[in-house]
Amino acid sequence: MCPPTYFDVVYAINDWMSPGEQVDRPRALAQWHTLVDTYRALGHEVVVIDAVEGLPDMVFVTDSGVVVDGVALGARYRCAQRRAEAGHVLRWFRENGLLTPRSPRFVNEGEGDFLVVGDVILGGTGFRSDPRSHAEAAAHLGRPVVPLTLVDSRYYHLNTALGVLDDATIAYLPAAFSPESLLLLRRMFPDAVIADESDTQWLGLNLVSDGLHVVLPEQATRLSDQLVDRGYDPVPVDYSEFLKSGGGIKCSTMELRGYRQFCEMGS
Ligand code: ARG
Repeated sequence: MCPPTYFDVVYAINDWMSPGEQVDRPRALAQWHTLVDTYRALGHEVVVIDAVEGLPDMVFVTDSGVVVDGVALGARYRCAQRRAEAGHVLRWFRENGLLTPRSPRFVNEGEGDFLVVGDVILGGTGFRSDPRSHAEAAAHLGRPVVPLTLVDSRYYHLNTALGVLDDATIAYLPAAFSPESLLLLRRMFPDAVIADESDTQWLGLNLVSDGLHVVLPEQATRLSDQLVDRGYDPVPVDYSEFLKSGGGIKCSTMELRGYRQFCEMGS
């Protein structure tokens, strides 16, 4: 995770952002610290990368890479405003013993568009990540990547329209996907939780689950009720200050899969 030390809205690269809107930075910092504390209270380890001045979106560190079995793929941002973030995170990967950290050839916005579900990776495209990044990620990470096309610009990253609940279960917003992608999702995940705009307007699907506890925005109450019905344990937090930038909980949380297990410095 990366603290929102320099968090701000000074450019608009998605529909949620309007430059000039005042960001309450102390509130953002407090919400971020609460999220860190929430993970720690659930028994998860949180490691932190330093924020960099001039990079107001760096708090959304998940967009800067994907890690599977300790193997790290860096990001390449579509928008110039965020491009420098990728280098800082790649260096962190190198300095912290992640395996074969690599800067990709094609545009990919890390776990913004790549979501790991069990042994497969769902790969979003349409607004940010280049479809050619899917084969590149599959080769580097050794997992198949299933391509999904996003069609609603409010849901510009896959993780704004789809949340992973466990190794076999997802939740998603059907309206965010092309008809072909929707067919694929229905076939792959017939038991998926179906979300609606009452939750996604709060980025309710931008959630982090350990398979039981699902950390999600406290405003996503309908989704939370559905999760209870399915036997999950929702953990609501207020992360609303970050909506001003179109970011949420998952955007702020890169999962370092296998870091302790496979990486020398992580063990
Ligand atoms: N302002 C950031 C951007 O548009 C927000 C990124 C949020 N990350 C995410 N995975 N949705 O790039």
